[in-house]
Amino acid sequence: MGSVGAKEVPVLLSPEGLRIDGRHLEELRSIRIVAGALHGADGSAFVEWGANKVMAAVYGPREVHPRHLQQNNKAIVQCRYNMAAFSVDERKRPGLDRRSQEISKVISEAFESVIFAEEFPRTSIDIYIEVLQANAGTRCAGVVAASVALADAGIPMVDLLPAVAVGKVGGAIALDLKKEEDNYGEADLPMALVPQSGRLVLLQMEGHMTREELAKALDLGVTGCRAIYEKMKQALRDRYASGGGAA
Ligand code: CDP
Repeated sequence: MGSVGAKEVPVLLSPEGLRIDGRHLEELRSIRIVAGALHGADGSAFVEWGANKVMAAVYGPREVHPRHLQQNNKAIVQCRYNMAAFSVDERKRPGLDRRSQEISKVISEAFESVIFAEEFPRTSIDIYIEVLQANAGTRCAGVVAASVALADAGIPMVDLLPAVAVGKVGGAIALDLKKEEDNYGEADLPMALVPQSGRLVLLQMEGHMTREELAKALDLGVTGCRAIYEKMKQALRDRYASGGGAA
């Protein structure tokens, strides 16, 4: 442990270039994706990503609630991202705080840009993301889970949406930050990619990096997204090969 002022901060990068959990800079945490994890939803997926555990359920296209949000020429896409009170070390106040509202909004907008919404006028496609255990990158895990859940529900989309956070830790650009890296690192940059076109449909950044570092981070994030994309497709193949996912 190094110390900065009164606060003890962990050493994020060893002299050998290894991270706090022994990973290399360009290494993802382990990811397991189960498509169709719930019986009741039209589509669902469960994602375990490092110490994150995230469930996504999709309903629709269905009637719009509240009614005044209905659009005559297309479906609306509504997402609710929520963190369970027990998902973090210090109990989180239940309910939609500002952070959850912001994340729900950016995820809705990301999916609006890939779903063929005009095929379902006057309906709603509802995405629920529940974070059961959080360890940084939960909005990205939520996008991955929701994306597989949308595909499981048969919602037509341009492509699946892999997502990952890149950042700067111990002065170096690193892929897929875990909690200590997110908390004590210099920058955090979550992104979601449309693999087919290379378009980024979610991109946020907290912290500081130079333009050169940003370019490197984007490249690393895109590579990470492409690796996650393969796991998402595999989860959907497994679902249909076995004829089901829900226990
Ligand atoms: O989860 P994500 O990285 O997308 O969002 P963040 O706002 O950068 O949060 C990073 C991490 O901080 C979360 O994944 C949680 O592990 C933690 N956190 C927390 O402990 N309590 C909160 N109220 C919010 C986040």
